[in-house]
Amino acid sequence: MIAIPPFLIRDINAFRRLPCTPWHAIAEFVDNSTQSYFDHEKELKAAYAAEGDSTKLTVSIAYDKDDILRIADNAMGMSYDELERAMHVAMPPRNTKGRSKYGMGLKTAACWIGDVWTVRTKKLGETVEHQVTVDVKKIADGSATLPHKEIKGRPAKDHFTIVEIRKHNRVFHGRTLGRIKQFLSSMYRQDFRSGVLNLLWRGEPVTWEDDPDRFLSDAAGNGRSLGRV
Ligand SMILES: Nc1ncnc2c1ncn2[C@@H]1O[C@H](COP(=O)(O)OP(=O)(O)O)[C@@H](O)[C@H]1O
Ligand SMILES: [Mg+2]
Repeated sequence: MIAIPPFLIRDINAFRRLPCTPWHAIAEFVDNSTQSYFDHEKELKAAYAAEGDSTKLTVSIAYDKDDILRIADNAMGMSYDELERAMHVAMPPRNTKGRSKYGMGLKTAACWIGDVWTVRTKKLGETVEHQVTVDVKKIADGSATLPHKEIKGRPAKDHFTIVEIRKHNRVFHGRTLGRIKQFLSSMYRQDFRSGVLNLLWRGEPVTWEDDPDRFLSDAAGNGRSLGRV
């Protein structure tokens, strides 16, 4: 069991009323995945190389309006201690120079999206997978621990974090889904340029096109560049 600090119990209902956008909330998870990668780049590069030529950091986001948002990554994963620390809202992260310094963080973003969410994670080199479930309503009603499950005997070489959010507070429709993809494309363009990130949004790769001419030609629909020769 992971104990929940009292301030989280007090605040958890307020999280879902914070001003936020779907793309900013979703980016919180991608930030965490990419931060985990940059924090452990050397070990992960070696792990990816052992897994196959084209393996790299991959973050895959699945969304179904019938109640599931799932963000899965093959970054470093978390040990029990790291997962426990991750569940503590006001604790400062160890690396304050990283991404999400001013962001809402995993818990707040997850609560903003839905009322029941699960984190499954396994750290590279460890043999135990951890799962923790947060049920916002139960916590708001005073439940002071989070159900935690351990799965022992997992391969040491596995490494992942999967966040699944259910019981959604809001539904994202067509236009919003398009904007989420656009936002992700722009937000992680540096990582696409440097080739470190493979980001999948609902099964499709998110990319960034640096050439502004291409955008113009696409907008004009004639397939030709309107700008530079
Ligand atoms: N996908 C992930 N992979 C590895 N570690 C993660 C992941 N998501 C969250 N964490 C851990 O949980 C901590 C808390 O995350 P978060 O609430 O977003 O706050 P912050 O990113 O500001 O530290 C992170 O600092 C990190 O240690
Ligand atoms: Mg974060």
